[in-house]
Amino acid sequence: MRAAPLLLPLVLAASATGCGTGGDNAAQHQRYLWVQTCAECHTIAQGTPSPDVAAKNLWDVHPTREQVRRAVIDGRPGMPKGLLGGDDVDAIAAFVVARTTR
Ligand code: HEC
Repeated sequence: MRAAPLLLPLVLAASATGCGTGGDNAAQHQRYLWVQTCAECHTIAQGTPSPDVAAKNLWDVHPTREQVRRAVIDGRPGMPKGLLGGDDVDAIAAFVVARTTR
């Protein structure tokens, strides 16, 4: 809730400046979305505590793509809804699933 209005223009600006034109760019864009939109609350590496104690380490959640999409679109208690929209929802879901696959 506090960060979303400030971050959205940044995310849109990144989408407009050529992200998603190639494999590397797609990966960079996913990482960018993670850092800008999720990392202030969640960690995603085994054994690391999240910056927001209410937000789980996503490695421990081990979510499906659909779980990530629903969390990002609908929000969770303590997590604002609509953090990302459009293709970015799928991009962050792919990123989270890839990083949390054992
Ligand atoms: C303001 C802090 C905050 C931000 C920013 C945030 N989250 Fe969350 N998130 C939470 C909290 C709190 C929960 C509920 C407790 C939990 O399951 O971790 C949660 C839950 C989740 C869950 C678990 C949903 C379930 O089904 O249990 C996923 C997946 C998730 N977040 C992914 C993300 C992704 C991806 C982003 C970036 C787009 C993000 N979160 C950004 C705080 C945040």
